[in-house]
Amino acid sequence: MAFTMVDKETCIACGACGGSAPDLYDYDSEGLAYAVLDNNEGTKEVPEHQQDEMMEAYEGCPTESIKVAGQPFYRDATKFE
Ligand code: F3S
Repeated sequence: MAFTMVDKETCIACGACGGSAPDLYDYDSEGLAYAVLDNNEGTKEVPEHQQDEMMEAYEGCPTESIKVAGQPFYRDATKFE
């Protein structure tokens, strides 16, 4: 089970995540990323077939703003830190 969301407090709008995982991450009007599955709430399970690209985005974010966990975040990106 995997869940993901973006910490918009630390995202610097670098744009890497949408390149790695265009079906999972998009950008708001300020260029800040969010998880598209559940409008960045981190409550909807990431489908198995998208987990590789999720991990690619996770590893590629320069500010560690892509969050990944085995439990839902419920809108709190720092829940598991
Ligand atoms: Fe932001 Fe990291 Fe994506 S800085 S745009 S969450 S790669």
